[in-house]
Amino acid sequence: MKQRKILVTGGAGFIGSNFVHTILEENQDVTVTVVDKLTYAGNLKNLDKWKGDPRFEFIKLDITDKSEVFSKLQNIEVNEIAHFAAESHVDRSILGPEEFVKTNLMGSFYMLELARKLYSQNGLRVFLHVSTDEVFGSLGEDGAFTEKTPYAPNSPYSASKAGSDHLVRAYFHTYGLPVITTNCSNNYGPFHFPEKLIPLMILNCLQGKPLPVYGTGENIRDWLFVKDHCLAIDLVMRDGKFGETYNIGTRNEKNNLDIVHKICELMDEKNPKGAPHKKLIQFVKDRPGHDFRYAIDPSKIENELGWKPKYKFEEAIEQTVDWFLENRSWWEEILSGEYNKYYESQYKELKS
Ligand code: NAD
Ligand code: TYD
Repeated sequence: MKQRKILVTGGAGFIGSNFVHTILEENQDVTVTVVDKLTYAGNLKNLDKWKGDPRFEFIKLDITDKSEVFSKLQNIEVNEIAHFAAESHVDRSILGPEEFVKTNLMGSFYMLELARKLYSQNGLRVFLHVSTDEVFGSLGEDGAFTEKTPYAPNSPYSASKAGSDHLVRAYFHTYGLPVITTNCSNNYGPFHFPEKLIPLMILNCLQGKPLPVYGTGENIRDWLFVKDHCLAIDLVMRDGKFGETYNIGTRNEKNNLDIVHKICELMDEKNPKGAPHKKLIQFVKDRPGHDFRYAIDPSKIENELGWKPKYKFEEAIEQTVDWFLENRSWWEEILSGEYNKYYESQYKELKS
């Protein structure tokens, strides 16, 4: 394989930044160019480690601005694209879907158009589109999503991601672009933005704030440690088949209340002055259209690409809690800014 030069969209966000760390830590001869708009969810601090490293470059850019995408990137020397940039939070998509359609659909479209240009100029090797299992809709008590499960998105977020997946598919069939899509389950780990369930619960425990559990807390998610996810994406970029999709998950279903209890237990141990943290749990009104259950069947990536996760849930959730305890200034800065206003108003609207 030629030297890999990877363009990473959304590389200042949660999964994108973990991917940059994984790629640069695991490979000496790879270069990474991150493009990111730095929305509320993007944070250059996530990439501090690589500042000044000749293998790393950052370009501030909005993927929904076609002229900016083309003026800044059409002559860029990259041979792979990993497309993470998106609006990613379901609750925000309920409160304001427009940004989701713009970024996830139109932004992905412009990235595909750019990829088509780079492909015809220099022979781009792969365009990896990072998507979600939420495109498949909601499961009942049994079964798991496979790559053949029909699409049935229920939230504006998942609908916008589903639309982008279809565009990616069409660019393979119509233009022969070497695309691959991955659909993964809920991630957790370092750099997770505080609005999502796991970091929200950790940080609310630390601040003695209520732990808002939607509905009865029986909804199920299939939790994937972000470092396993990033290694899987790298494997798919190297060995995956163009035009195909791969589901990524680790058969780790938990209901929300079990997750919150686990975090409370860890916090009782690590932050004893707040114990018992369980007393902070508050059942609040349910999310509109709340999908009951997601579960991934990862047989295809396991059987065809030989993928195996490296981390066990028990150790990875503890590592995650420790990361938040050890990186106080990272989250304190976020909580003291615009995000706090959003959380308080969202609390009134969705979490009371
Ligand atoms: P995130 O919200 O933490 O990060 C998104 C990043 O994209 C941010 O850095 C943001 O600044 C950037 N971005 C947003 N709009 C942009 C724009 N218009 N132009 C350029 N950059 C822009 O999201 P995440 O959790 O890291 O998710 C990354 C990808 O993985 C997304 O495509 C998401 O749909 C997918 N995904 C996430 C999960 C999960 O559990 N977090 C699960 C399945 C799939
Ligand atoms: P979230 O982290 O928002 O991910 P997604 O909606 O993409 O699955 O939510 C995970 C689960 O946790 C979901 O069932 C909604 C629930 N949840 C709560 O109960 N309380 C909260 O404050 C949040 C943010 C989520």
